[in-house]
Amino acid sequence: MHMPYAIHALELGPMENFVYLIHDRSSDTAAVVDPAWDVDQVIALAEREGARITDILLTHSHHDHINGIEAVLTRFDAQLHLLKAEAQFWGRELQRPTLHHGGDPIQLGETPIEVLHTPGHTPGSACYRIQDQLITGDTLFVFGCGRCDLAGGNPEQMYTTLRRLRAGLPAHTRIHPGHNYAEKPTSTLEEQIEGNPFLGFERVSDFVHYRMHEHDRIRSTPYRPVHGPEAFS
Ligand SMILES: [Fe+2]
Repeated sequence: MHMPYAIHALELGPMENFVYLIHDRSSDTAAVVDPAWDVDQVIALAEREGARITDILLTHSHHDHINGIEAVLTRFDAQLHLLKAEAQFWGRELQRPTLHHGGDPIQLGETPIEVLHTPGHTPGSACYRIQDQLITGDTLFVFGCGRCDLAGGNPEQMYTTLRRLRAGLPAHTRIHPGHNYAEKPTSTLEEQIEGNPFLGFERVSDFVHYRMHEHDRIRSTPYRPVHGPEAFS
């Protein structure tokens, strides 16, 4: 079924963040995912598209994903969405946010968005599914995944989260990550299952060791695909 929406990506700021604009064409409303850095560019994009920003979706509360919230709110009366678990972890006073649980629907005009709870990078990290597209924040990168050694990180949870994404979503699902850490900005789940080393582990202990002790020693950006068992030896 054709859905009347478009997802636009802007790479902004010194940490190669992707800020996404989900535009529902039926209502000409838009949601900004992780507003940060140069919000003027996000607003200019929305204006070019003829869309009014009505919602802000957060994948998680790290500074590089949220430092543009106020700049959006001074221009638009937008509703802020995040997982309740992330709001509790963050501890910041927020003005009437909508606090979600995993599986909740968000309706943007005629475009349905599903909130997935994907802990591991932070306790309340979220991915947002729009039909066969998935905005993944710092949970899943193209050929990488979010680090689990910062406050609130948990590699065992990340292992479970990635297994669930792998098992629960169609292979053709398009991945839109929170940072531009590879040689291309997006990928499919199928391509990630084949070449993302973090999706290849069968044992949680192997995943945890690789994420916490091996990975950053042996790989650097731009991440390239890793094939075969040598990746996990
Ligand atoms: Fe982060």
